[in-house]
Amino acid sequence: MVNVKETVGRLAADYVEDGMVVGLGTGSTAYWFVDEIGKRVQSGQLANIICVPTSRQTAQQAEQLGIPLVTLDEVAAIDVLVDGADETTTDFMGIKGGGGALLHEKIVADNARKIIWIVGEDKVVDTLGKFPLPVEIIQFGSWNLFRKFEAAGLRPSFRKKGPDSLFITDSGNYIIDLHLEEIPAPQQIAHDLIHTVGVVEHGLFLGYADVVLAGKEDGTVVRYEREQ
Ligand code: 5RP
Repeated sequence: MVNVKETVGRLAADYVEDGMVVGLGTGSTAYWFVDEIGKRVQSGQLANIICVPTSRQTAQQAEQLGIPLVTLDEVAAIDVLVDGADETTTDFMGIKGGGGALLHEKIVADNARKIIWIVGEDKVVDTLGKFPLPVEIIQFGSWNLFRKFEAAGLRPSFRKKGPDSLFITDSGNYIIDLHLEEIPAPQQIAHDLIHTVGVVEHGLFLGYADVVLAGKEDGTVVRYEREQ
């Protein structure tokens, strides 16, 4: 059986050239990209790259593979960032943050010259919103913010780590997932969320990706590429 995540993850490594500064995404698909980068570093094919991880989880994996890591502040820009996504349209509107790393992923994306998303074809949708929209929020006053979201009909739920504990992000924040089902006007909700006090960032990544590699169960990959 084809492992779709592995197929697109390894394929995305072809966008990386030796000497580049590379952004390493987070999640079960990005895992395979990082694994492939590790192999190419070890073989000497990518002996001179430096990488910026988007989460502690990815940093740990990369360290174990001997991939040279730096922080975002140590580089002027990222040449190429490869990351997963939870949903994407073919015009590069997406939701990220299912793995809880949306804030660092967006900051790294904001500093990247080229962004490749690696997904299974089931994540390519016409309208965003079936996947709950993650919103990273400050802990202080979070229940009041939750109630505001509820009153606005946004159907919030706190992201949990276990039955009795809330998920905490790499920056020490909570995540509220909004169960919207459909987001017909993503720009509007993105605007409203980012202007809500207590919200740090939201998982709408609108117009960030340059390329989407969508893997199919038959082992083929559909490539959506933004016109330059
Ligand atoms: C983490 C993310 C991930 O990229 C997204 O959730 C996709 O993950 P996966 O490849 O495991 O489905 O945004 O914050």
